[in-house]
Amino acid sequence: MNQNRKSKIKNQKLAILISGNGSNLQAILDACAAGELPAQVIAVVSNKADAYGLERARRANVPSIVKSKPKEQDRRAYDAELAELVAAYQPDWVVLAGWMRVLSSAFLDRFPNRVVNLHPALPDTFPGTHAIQRAFDAYQRGAIKHTGVMAHLVPDEGVDAGPVLAQEIVPIQPDDTLDALEARIHAVEHRLLVHTLKNLFD
Ligand code: GAR
Repeated sequence: MNQNRKSKIKNQKLAILISGNGSNLQAILDACAAGELPAQVIAVVSNKADAYGLERARRANVPSIVKSKPKEQDRRAYDAELAELVAAYQPDWVVLAGWMRVLSSAFLDRFPNRVVNLHPALPDTFPGTHAIQRAFDAYQRGAIKHTGVMAHLVPDEGVDAGPVLAQEIVPIQPDDTLDALEARIHAVEHRLLVHTLKNLFD
């Protein structure tokens, strides 16, 4: 891309939703800081007060907000409040980077075609939590030969499902430990997520 066109692409505003470590958030922050991604993280929201990703956001001088769901609160009411909170930052994109709650239309309808989810498995495999562990177990049973990573749009309440933006196979080795496989998957995720966002902005 020539410099002229590059300078015309406006910086995309990203709201990142997390629930934990935030290593994928970190990959995005680093790519923005390095000028690899024409974007700016404008808010990080976590549903968990102890998510380490909140610390990463603070260090990067990005507003970090905890929005926990009270047990007694209706799921759609929570999602509507969450949407209100996120919309106040006027993001161009909402990125679910380790966000471990299924979002209802009360959230998604506020950001049509603008919500991207990352999942540590290939399309239609191991939706939900502990995807890496479940793939590892399936490999041990001989049910699969490899696993992978995907990024997709989130049109509705389908769990880790929606139009696929990018996917990559991650091999599993016979002598792999779960830790080794997890580390390899996360390394692929960090690269794939940044690459996917870059393509979306283009
Ligand atoms: C990532 O592996 C992400 O794909 C996964 O949570 C992890 C978060 O890691 N998401 C899901 O499982 C969604 N179903 P991080 O907090 O270090 O970015």
